[in-house]
Amino acid sequence: MRSDSRSPSGAVAPELTAHTIHRHVIWAAAITALGGLLFGYDTGVVSGALLFLHIDFGHLSSLDKELVTSLLLVGAMVGAFFAGKVADKIGRRPTVLITAAVFIVGVLGAAFSPTFVFLVAMRFVIGLAVGSASMVVPLYIGEAAPPHIRGALVSFNQLAITSGILTSYLVDYWLASSENWRLMFGLATVPAVALFVGMLFQHESPHWLIAQGREDAARTVLHRVRASTDIEAEITEVRELSQRKASARELLDPGVRKVLTVGVLLAVFQQVTGINTIIYYAPTLLHGAGLGNSASLLANVANGGVNVGMTIVAIRLIDRVGRRPLLLAGTTGMTIALIVLAIAFVIGGSQLTGVSAIVAIVALLVYTGSFAIGLGPVFWLLISEMYPVRIRGQAMSVATIANWGANFVVTISFLTLLGAIHGPGTFFLFAFLTVVALVYFQKRVPETKNRSLQEIERDLLGQKTASRSPLGKSLDVTVNGRRPTTSP
Ligand code: BGC
Repeated sequence: MRSDSRSPSGAVAPELTAHTIHRHVIWAAAITALGGLLFGYDTGVVSGALLFLHIDFGHLSSLDKELVTSLLLVGAMVGAFFAGKVADKIGRRPTVLITAAVFIVGVLGAAFSPTFVFLVAMRFVIGLAVGSASMVVPLYIGEAAPPHIRGALVSFNQLAITSGILTSYLVDYWLASSENWRLMFGLATVPAVALFVGMLFQHESPHWLIAQGREDAARTVLHRVRASTDIEAEITEVRELSQRKASARELLDPGVRKVLTVGVLLAVFQQVTGINTIIYYAPTLLHGAGLGNSASLLANVANGGVNVGMTIVAIRLIDRVGRRPLLLAGTTGMTIALIVLAIAFVIGGSQLTGVSAIVAIVALLVYTGSFAIGLGPVFWLLISEMYPVRIRGQAMSVATIANWGANFVVTISFLTLLGAIHGPGTFFLFAFLTVVALVYFQKRVPETKNRSLQEIERDLLGQKTASRSPLGKSLDVTVNGRRPTTSP
């Protein structure tokens, strides 16, 4: 059913049905999440491509292989650094467009690399886009989404990341017989072009427009993605919250610093609890522990499938049960699985066979599933929710750089660590870190379910505004059952 509603500026805007509004935001989230697909695909594809680079470039040393793999992570740190500033300055939409263009240049460059050095440089360029996408996608979706489904919509990005990783495993497997590493890299052009073209048809983020004083434009966008009764209150709230001029120095204000620390620690815990050692090295690990080649690869694909499947479960639950329960339950599952994995390595020694092999594989799947239901989506969601609108992009940048930085450190040191303290030691260490993370999350991570971003901002940063929230709900952002204070 459609009726007309009149905005204060006098313009008549058609009122859309709830169904149409949902369709618009889901479509916007799906298009933007292609950035997440590229993030997952480009981080995952290299493991298979590495096997065939010598065909064109001759023998590659371990250092060469590490460079191709990890320069993407360095590029991602740099990309995340600039993307926040750019997104706050020129807007979220042009930042996604630039990111998509950089993806296109990077993946085509990698696919047609004439020399090894050129390929390494292109991996850095792809990294710039991956780092930028990893923060600007949740940022854009979070600001467009209505509060009651924001968790699910922002977590589309995590679903896209995990689907990208799984797709890259399957593509590597499919192209292995033709040894076509160029196509492995080059196929990413398809989602990169789709992201660019799709984004041309999307609107700018309404919150960014309001922060720029472009309220009429924001109103037009909001009429597509909100019930008309919620719009004016939201505009007033975001306007009030963005009145002061944005300055990077604000990141050091006591209130902001506090939530920034939560984001940075979530980022670091997401990585130092070992997820990418499994994502990047599971076949190597299982093979090294005595499993056959095909069993290792099969276990790896199953692991990728569980990662996608449990992310879907998280999406269904995240707006109903909330962020904290998923985070705490998921991290507990990771701890148990890591302890079991370490014990399987102790019992099985260097040759996992029979029961110890099955236990290790099941533990691996439980570990990944637990990450996928908690720390995976919840980290990216919370950093899109916790920061003040004026400096949201820059604050997200800081947490995202911490994530890529920690990823880089863990990835380059993992094989050395494994050599030094072996399987049991390594997994006990990760288990210990998940326990530390659990204690921290229990004490410090806020619940943001069902709150508008303005409500969260006021509560977490202790700012008062006169207006009511568009949802008309009482504000109750809690940390460990208590309301946070702003004292440092
Ligand atoms: C992490 C990535 C990881 C992926 C695995 C993401 O949330 O940031 O580092 O590879 O999840 O699913």
